Amino acid sequence: MPGAGSPERPGPDASRSGSPPAAPPRSDILVRPSGPLRGEVEIGGAKNSILKLLAATTLAEGHFTLRRVPRISDVDTMIELLESFGCRLRYGGDDVLHIDVPQQLSPHASYDLVSRMRASIAVLGPLLARCGEAMVALPGGDDFGSRPIDMHLAALERLGVDIDLSHGYVHARASTLKGEEVSLAWPSVGATENIMMVATAAEGRTVIDNAAREPEIADLAAFLNRMGAEVLGAGSPTITINGGGPLRSVDHTPVSDRIETAVYLAAVGIAGGEITLRGAQPGHLRMLCDKLGEMNLRTSTIRGGLWAMSPHRLRATEIVTLPYPGVATDYQPLLVAMLSLADGVGLVTENVFANRFRYVGELIRMGADIRVEGRCAIVRGKERLSGAPVRATDIRAGAALVIAGLGAEGETVVRDTRHIRRGHEDLVGKLRSLGADISWVPAG
Ligand code: EPU
Repeated sequence: MPGAGSPERPGPDASRSGSPPAAPPRSDILVRPSGPLRGEVEIGGAKNSILKLLAATTLAEGHFTLRRVPRISDVDTMIELLESFGCRLRYGGDDVLHIDVPQQLSPHASYDLVSRMRASIAVLGPLLARCGEAMVALPGGDDFGSRPIDMHLAALERLGVDIDLSHGYVHARASTLKGEEVSLAWPSVGATENIMMVATAAEGRTVIDNAAREPEIADLAAFLNRMGAEVLGAGSPTITINGGGPLRSVDHTPVSDRIETAVYLAAVGIAGGEITLRGAQPGHLRMLCDKLGEMNLRTSTIRGGLWAMSPHRLRATEIVTLPYPGVATDYQPLLVAMLSLADGVGLVTENVFANRFRYVGELIRMGADIRVEGRCAIVRGKERLSGAPVRATDIRAGAALVIAGLGAEGETVVRDTRHIRRGHEDLVGKLRSLGADISWVPAG
């Protein structure tokens, strides 16, 4: 992958990966006004798919291969979690991960690992399916809200799982899992995935009504089906799982990361220029590309990826986040950063997470004119922002602050970059390859 060998790239454990020495983990990112951007970058496999696919490997004994795995710290956390169950994992190439799943697993996910990454809750379903029991730490709240798992637990109970919440852990046990109809009050991505995975081991048919429709859900279904499961309708609001059949290990290449793709679209939107995103899957980004079109950014599907050009100043628009196929909540900080520099007044309504505007204070420190009222942000665009030291408050907000720095006078120094490294592979190297003035600097 381009930039993968960049010597300044902080990355996962080099002894495991065989990568060049990693930069100090506490580095900040320094960005100066940049543009126009030109060139191409390679988009990696979707973080939010790979984490669940890794969890799903525990469903069967044997040797799995996952390709196009980005070197990000959330993947490292999931690797540690699987190792704690007794699996063995190693990189066989820059982005190929081999997973050996033993016959016996220890179905215990510790607080130390789950508290590092909420997506760890994805192991609950597969551990239950494989071992008949699981003890997984409650993930608790995070950077943008309380993020309960009530829908996961209620669905598991319907399938015959006994759940006990005590001492900060979910203790789940099932002597028999039985297929059932499960209706979700909201199309939760994580709940849909946990139910799909546990239902592969349930007797009979499970139907998930109001299921999440994200491309990563369809990817998980493809993975499970390749393993021998029968999962029908993924990508639609009704998913049917005919459970109980034997499962086997597989080799799989996940969908590409639509959120990583959005980062580079936002970058070219703010800095101007013309870029190609190799490996991007434009079919997964239709609503976003329509919105970006309203904002003056031109995009076009090309063979093997997506082309984008920003010939003019961005124009403000109205944005409403929704579950897929709507505009994803994960794009929201990027879009707010773009609107901060657009011509006119933009209105952004966040419908998925109650508290996902926490980073806005950091953009305001950079001179942005944003007023947050409940779930809405009113953004009055400026010609230029003003570089400042800012803190990444979560994975996506961190990337948005970096991108905002491309359109800010002077120097922007983004701190707490561990959040960025959780979900964005080689952000600095890839932006630099497009001509951005950006580098890692020692933490201030
Ligand atoms: N919710 C509940 N109860 C539940 C489950 C969810 O109330 O049992 C609520 C949540 O609090 C939230 C809404 O439902 O308000 C949607 O949550 P969902 O379960 O869909 O999200 P998730 O599975 O926790 C995944 C992604 C997020 C992404 C959301 C929405 C992963 C690892 N995470 O989270 O991605 O924002 O779906 O699309 O897949 C990120 O990558 O940075 C990230 C946060």
